Amino acid sequence: MKGIILAGGLGTRLYPLTFATNKHLLPVYDKPMVYYPIHTLVRAGITEVIVVTGGPHAGDFIRVLKNGKEWGLTHLEYAYQENEGGIAQALSLCEDFADGGSIAVILGDNTTDADISQPVGDFEQGAMVFLRSVSDPHRFGVPVFAAGDPSRIIAIEEKPAQPKSQYAVTGLYLYDSRVFEYIRRTKPSGRGELEITDVNNMYIEAGQLHWAKLEGFWSDAGTFESLFRSGLYWAQKAGWRDNIES
Ligand code: DAU
Repeated sequence: MKGIILAGGLGTRLYPLTFATNKHLLPVYDKPMVYYPIHTLVRAGITEVIVVTGGPHAGDFIRVLKNGKEWGLTHLEYAYQENEGGIAQALSLCEDFADGGSIAVILGDNTTDADISQPVGDFEQGAMVFLRSVSDPHRFGVPVFAAGDPSRIIAIEEKPAQPKSQYAVTGLYLYDSRVFEYIRRTKPSGRGELEITDVNNMYIEAGQLHWAKLEGFWSDAGTFESLFRSGLYWAQKAGWRDNIES
């Protein structure tokens, strides 16, 4: 399986931090943010990766990642997303790279210590999403479960005002090659983006969406709070303890 890291967008929620570089190159403790999704893929045995980026600082990625060897990659290529057309639009740029095979997709601002080796190894067809119980599901894609059957997702709602479950659909996805056909069928949402949630709902309609709980730490890092929380987690995991005196 090949891996795709989506690291486009302007990171406007992190201005002024993202005036001078791309959001995914900001530090999360002692590494650039994009290191974490790369590590998640490499740990799962995926070493052929494409990074989709965009905006005025796209060139910074080359200086940080180079050819990917020191990060454990055997092949690294880049694609440039011209506009912030959404996650599904960024993914559509990777059809040639996927070359008809299955893909693991991770959003560049998601960091996790979950090991996805097994679902990657077991994956055959359809799509797989990973769910995480969160205190603020309204910030995310949220699964709706069938009444009386908590194992069956009947829809995913993007940032619902009234979430119908406590779960976030995390930014890790496994897809078969049909994903690109489904993306072609999506229309821009209210926020003017091609939504990955619409693509996942097409897999639900086709009876082909699988899910698993993501074990371990998971957070996005696209807001000041979540960026700080992610850095704190990884610092503490590395042994750092607060000894700040005021
Ligand atoms: O973090 C998980 C959530 O990510 C999911 O629960 C949501 O269903 C999904 O829509 C997404 O929500 P956000 O609104 O938080 O996504 P955001 O716009 O912050 O984009 C997340 C990453 O996706 C970003 O770090 C880079 C990539 N991206 C995003 C856009 C809009 C692109 O590569 N290109 C884009 O045009």
